[in-house]
Amino acid sequence: MASGSSASTPTSGRTRSSNLELGDLAPAFAADSTDGVIEFPQCLGDCWGVLFSHPKDFTPVCTTELGVLATLKPEFDRRRVRVIGLSVDGLEAHREWAKDILAVTGAAPNFPMIADADRRVAMLYDMLDPQASDTATVRSVFVIGQDRRIKLTLTYPASTGRNFAELLRAIDSLQLTAQHQVATPVNWQPGEEVIIVPAVSDAMARERYPRGWRAPRPYLRYVPAPAPGHR
Ligand code: BEZ
Repeated sequence: MASGSSASTPTSGRTRSSNLELGDLAPAFAADSTDGVIEFPQCLGDCWGVLFSHPKDFTPVCTTELGVLATLKPEFDRRRVRVIGLSVDGLEAHREWAKDILAVTGAAPNFPMIADADRRVAMLYDMLDPQASDTATVRSVFVIGQDRRIKLTLTYPASTGRNFAELLRAIDSLQLTAQHQVATPVNWQPGEEVIIVPAVSDAMARERYPRGWRAPRPYLRYVPAPAPGHR
């Protein structure tokens, strides 16, 4: 079993005390996975990362999620995002379940799945469900940027499957805003207009956007989306 650092790790049970916040450095750990030992976040290299948990192996909603995620892997690759799953079951269960996922959904997991049987990573990332009768994890998602900082978190209950198309859309927004001082409006989709952030004055905006902008209000300034350039 791999061992890892756990400076802020609660030492027992269901304590939800890691208090990870947006902008925090992703806590480091080493853990066994279906692809061997993972040293996180170093394993991301200069890529972005998605670390996500699901409650348990051989459960229905998770089976559908992992099949879809496997089919979306090229989309994450294109954005230079490494996907890493986690549940509190062991490696043997992960491998057996992968066969089921292939049989049921037509796609087997093509990303590493952490076997967190001792719940060390789940506690470090505050993924344990305080309402669950066992120590299952919730459906957590952590998006980690190239600077190894937490850019986005999601927490869904076990009964609600995630929408991975929305996760990709949010990553497109995060990657765009990491490179340009822009924000993305409601329901934004790649290629659509973006918003100049308030921190950019009109004088600065005139330099950056010599062709001008569309401003229904002085504080709401739209410009065409900059080219994405996935780094
Ligand atoms: C599921 O993945 O289907 C599931 C897991 C735990 C509780 C409820 C649903």
